[in-house]
Amino acid sequence: MFNKIFLSSDHAGFELKEKVRGFFIDNNIEYEDLGCSSLEPVDYPDFAKLLSKKIKDKTDSKGILFCGTGIGISMAANRFPHIRAALCTSVEMASKSRKHNDANVLALGGRILEEKLALEIVKEFLQTDFEAGRHSSRVDKI
Ligand code: RB5
Repeated sequence: MFNKIFLSSDHAGFELKEKVRGFFIDNNIEYEDLGCSSLEPVDYPDFAKLLSKKIKDKTDSKGILFCGTGIGISMAANRFPHIRAALCTSVEMASKSRKHNDANVLALGGRILEEKLALEIVKEFLQTDFEAGRHSSRVDKI
């Protein structure tokens, strides 16, 4: 499981982040929102970096990143050696990202995903454990 969930987005991911944040509030799920806090344009690498630093300090935490497509912000986060960010567009990808890849960060595209699917992906990501076993040595090689 996980200890803490960090959320971070650029302006293009802001609205979906707000929806996920609302879901966390409604379900008493503890989170920390690292911004951004409006639709004012910002640069996604800055927000990927913020979240990556938090996860380095709290190794049992997880993160969810949002930008327009999820592509740029996942690329930026994966520059950090301790980050395994998975850009997911389906529940199946979220499940496999945890079971096989031990992803510690989920990346979502605010301009790509409908709210309902995004929330299903988030739930799957948070409730699925790493299967370890044969996957461990592969993840270690990353
Ligand atoms: C911002 O316009 C957009 O380029 C960004 O959110 C993201 O989609 C990049 O990958």
